[in-house]
Amino acid sequence: MLYSEKVMEHFQNPRNLGKMEDADGIGEVGNAVCGDIMKIYIKVDHGIITDVKFNTFGCGSAIATSSMATEMIKGKKIEEALTLSNKAVVEALDGLPAHKIHCSVLAEEAVKAAVKDYYDKNNIPYDKSEFPDCDHCEGCCHS
Ligand code: FES
Repeated sequence: MLYSEKVMEHFQNPRNLGKMEDADGIGEVGNAVCGDIMKIYIKVDHGIITDVKFNTFGCGSAIATSSMATEMIKGKKIEEALTLSNKAVVEALDGLPAHKIHCSVLAEEAVKAAVKDYYDKNNIPYDKSEFPDCDHCEGCCHS
């Protein structure tokens, strides 16, 4: 089978899907390969991500990886969310077909962009080198 049961399950029953009106940070990134778009909203309380939502115009793999990524960062410290890699998300989903790995990058980049947005909005200093993926999407992270 092309997709693991976990991928199918998260695709059919995505966690944390939707918008957040009072988000503390919003990350929006686009995938240059396919043109899909991902938006992640985070709510932060005392450095802890208390709520996460995502919205996407993306494929099934993008939906499944975002769903898993939101589950993995919810309740975590904001610094921990920054260490979330697309590889860890793919592993948690028991793998993705090779040609779909780029879809999982969208989830990782959107999480990072949301954290960056939170830091920017709250004037929290950060090491810009921690956000290398955001350099190329200047203008789309904050739209
Ligand atoms: Fe675009 Fe998967 S094909 S995110």
